[in-house]
Amino acid sequence: MGKIRAWSAVLLVLVAAIAAAEAKSKPKVCNKGWECSGSIYCCNETITDYFQVYQFENLFSKRNSPVAHAVGFWDYQSFITAASVFEPLGFGTTGDKQTKMREVAAFLGHVGSKTSCGYGVATGGPLAWGLCYNHEMSPSQDYCDDNYLYKCTEGAQYYGRGALPVYWNYNYGLIGDALKVDLLNHPEYLEQNATLAFQAAMWRWMTPMKKKQPSAHDAIVGNWKPSKNDTLSKRLPGFGLTINILYGDQICGQGYIDPMNNIISHYQYYLDLIGIGRQYSGDNVDCAEQVAFNPSYKADTATS
Ligand SMILES: *[C@@H]1O[C@H](CO)[C@@H](O)[C@H](O)[C@H]1NC(C)=O
Ligand SMILES: *[C@@H]1O[C@H](CO)[C@@H](O)[C@H](O)[C@H]1NC(C)=O
Ligand SMILES: *[C@@H]1O[C@H](CO)[C@@H](O)[C@H](O)[C@H]1NC(C)=O
Repeated sequence: MGKIRAWSAVLLVLVAAIAAAEAKSKPKVCNKGWECSGSIYCCNETITDYFQVYQFENLFSKRNSPVAHAVGFWDYQSFITAASVFEPLGFGTTGDKQTKMREVAAFLGHVGSKTSCGYGVATGGPLAWGLCYNHEMSPSQDYCDDNYLYKCTEGAQYYGRGALPVYWNYNYGLIGDALKVDLLNHPEYLEQNATLAFQAAMWRWMTPMKKKQPSAHDAIVGNWKPSKNDTLSKRLPGFGLTINILYGDQICGQGYIDPMNNIISHYQYYLDLIGIGRQYSGDNVDCAEQVAFNPSYKADTATS
């Protein structure tokens, strides 16, 4: 009896000591108001500190011109409001200032290239036309595949919508669950609400396609180390890997093809415009020789 009591006293002391140590080593959680709250990532600069409305306007200077297809839809505020959900998880808030700005340029580079209506002869150059679309214009099919958990809703259409366009019922279902918005029944929300459209894209950016794989975020901020297998498959950290993660062998491992070069061009154009410069694109900018993480399956976010 006495022995047991003594031991429990020792245990209690131990538990208390561990709790104290935990409290001491617990990373500091910061509150920057609505933009970034309750996370170690909020202690440093957040997106509005280094990416302001004039920079957004420079990047997407043609989006509200009369010939654009989503006039009045996309704006800086919806980008920032959407980001407030992901900044506490490290989106645009990880590492030093250059790393943060590079991530924002990388994310927006993907967005810009997927939503562009710029062609060779467009005024301002082909790279000035990001955020020209918010949905696919002439869908070639209905993107309904009922072999999945998320059954298509009668009358709903699952063509490409959003900032990193979402295609197919199962992707709408998955992202809707993640964001707690009923996108399976209301896929149209993604072309009606720019905040939601950015949020869906940021969720895709922050979420690995499969367990144990890096997210695009991990790839660009340096959170991921290649295994031997990865190195053999030429998968190395950098912007090229974000293309691999989002598009796999639709774009990667095919040499220097136009669809890949187009995404990279947007990324580097934005790096120049936001004030870092393309010389800081980082290593491994392309995925020309990379083997896809996930070999081809039905298009996830097929090119628009
Ligand atoms: C905060 O900034 C410092 C200095 O730039 C950087 O080393 C650190 O990784 C940042 N913290 C987080 C959580 O990213
Ligand atoms: C747009 O989406 C955001 C994020 O899900 C939500 O908070 C907001 O209420 C939506 N706006 C409208 C007008 O539905
Ligand atoms: C390494 O790559 C091979 C061929 O792609 C694959 O079969 C194997 O499972 C991979 N090993 C690991 C540990 O991922």
